[in-house]
Amino acid sequence: MSEIKKFFDGKTIFLTGATGYLGSALIEKLLRCCSGVKIIYCVVRVKQSLSIEQRYEEWCSSVIFDKIKENNNDVLKKVVFVKGDLGENRLGLNDEDFDVLTNEVNCVFHVGAEVKFVDVIDRLLLNNVFGTNETLLLAKQVKNLQTFVYVSSAFAQCNKYTVEETMYENELNGENMLMLLKMFDGKRLNEMSPIILNDFPNPYTATKSLAEDLIRRTAGDLPIAVVRPTIITPALEEPLPGWTNQYQTYVKLFTFYAIGLSHIMPTRPGTALDVIPLDYVVNLILATTWELGSSHCFKNATKAIKVYNQGTTHHNPLPLKKFETLLDRYDSMLPSNRKMWHRFVLLTTNGIMKQLMFVFHLPIMFLLDVANILLGKSPKYVKLYQKMHFLLSLSEHFIENSWLFKTNNTKRLWEKLDEVDKKIFNFDESTIDWDSAVYTFVNGSRLYVLKETPDTLPKAQVRRHILKVLHYFTVFVYLCIFLVLVTLLLKCLL
Ligand SMILES: NC(=O)c1ccc[n+]([C@@H]2O[C@H](COP(=O)([O-])OP(=O)(O)OC[C@H]3O[C@@H](n4cnc5c(N)ncnc54)[C@H](OP(=O)(O)O)[C@@H]3O)[C@@H](O)[C@H]2O)c1
Repeated sequence: MSEIKKFFDGKTIFLTGATGYLGSALIEKLLRCCSGVKIIYCVVRVKQSLSIEQRYEEWCSSVIFDKIKENNNDVLKKVVFVKGDLGENRLGLNDEDFDVLTNEVNCVFHVGAEVKFVDVIDRLLLNNVFGTNETLLLAKQVKNLQTFVYVSSAFAQCNKYTVEETMYENELNGENMLMLLKMFDGKRLNEMSPIILNDFPNPYTATKSLAEDLIRRTAGDLPIAVVRPTIITPALEEPLPGWTNQYQTYVKLFTFYAIGLSHIMPTRPGTALDVIPLDYVVNLILATTWELGSSHCFKNATKAIKVYNQGTTHHNPLPLKKFETLLDRYDSMLPSNRKMWHRFVLLTTNGIMKQLMFVFHLPIMFLLDVANILLGKSPKYVKLYQKMHFLLSLSEHFIENSWLFKTNNTKRLWEKLDEVDKKIFNFDESTIDWDSAVYTFVNGSRLYVLKETPDTLPKAQVRRHILKVLHYFTVFVYLCIFLVLVTLLLKCLL
């Protein structure tokens, strides 16, 4: 019998971020592999004029729940959405819901956060720092709390290039940020953005660091652990091989390469991209909860908050050059029907090359838009290209640089699992075979992001071949023009 499964028997869970990428996968795994879970309460906000009931219906219809619904159609009834918001006092919960949670909950998973790299600092402070504080305050009132697992990000500490599994101090102090939020309006806070960012590359990482700092200072006696994944990629096996959604920044970026919209990857060939599959993150979170809830060391000897870094650079690095080669290989097997041009990608940090590519491509996008207008369609290419360029600029810092995220605690926890749990809750990143993993990612992005089913492949292959011929023909024409110009120049000079 699985120890982890046993731990969750009869447990009532409270989760933030249920509707997100990681939160949905975490709930799916809990329902599928820890069937003794009693109930999962999730705080969910009203969004895009959808009520909580409508959001619940929409969420339940996700393809990732198909497998568990096949076995038991009622299984999702264990998931209860309660109306709230991370950015509000007491999480925006009404008194009745607040009482139910404080009386019944045993395990808290604080997964929810604003994950957009670009968002303004006041929104990020509110959702990521204030929201974490409100979740901690609720947890402190829970009568029978056994575990509190906070999902941070390895890049919450990206102002260091070697990141240990420890709670670092942020000199700006997470508690002070709560005071700033009370004192100043959004406009003033956004003006203070450079100070709050300090040495972080974007507001998202800065606020995740401040949230960790807040936990370090205020968690007190809570049984708490922090899981820090790096970049979460599509699932390797569960809930479905390759499952992902279109909102993940890196998935979007690599899709732009796949459709031939982007041709520059701003990196050095030896740089390793630290990625970790979704199912490995879910499994580590559940194993951490089990260790936290069942280990006596947390209750007595040490009050230190356990941190679990999770990534691949430490034991199984994926150099970007290799990643790109594999992406290219599988793109030729699984091309998209939305390809705009032949896929080719240059790995370079040369700023001139990047600008040249932009200047060269923009007029082509403009011409494509003109063609669209003439055909009576609405223009989209310039906008799409600018979006891609913007996304690339946001991700550049993380593609260009390498970090070493130490994963000793995660490794130790892996060794602690028995064989049964190792099978059900695999998070051993050292055994990931990148070749087949990248195949799964490409296949998953095609299916779940581009929404292209396998029967569309033959047509996509024809399109790929035509674009490839066009590409090499264009290169040939440019080369000829270049040679003619050089010859003319030489003739003039001699
Ligand atoms: N994705 C990655 O590569 C990655 C890597 C490392 C760490 N992480 C961490 O993993 C966690 C989950 O990330 P994800 O990729 O699953 O992000 P995601 O898909 O954007 O999901 C974020 C979740 O947080 C919820 N949320 C945000 N603001 C809220 C608010 N004010 N009130 C209530 N709910 C709110 C969202 O709800 P709505 O549906 O209402 O928007 C959504 O359920 C985050 O803490 C993130 O920092 C992610």
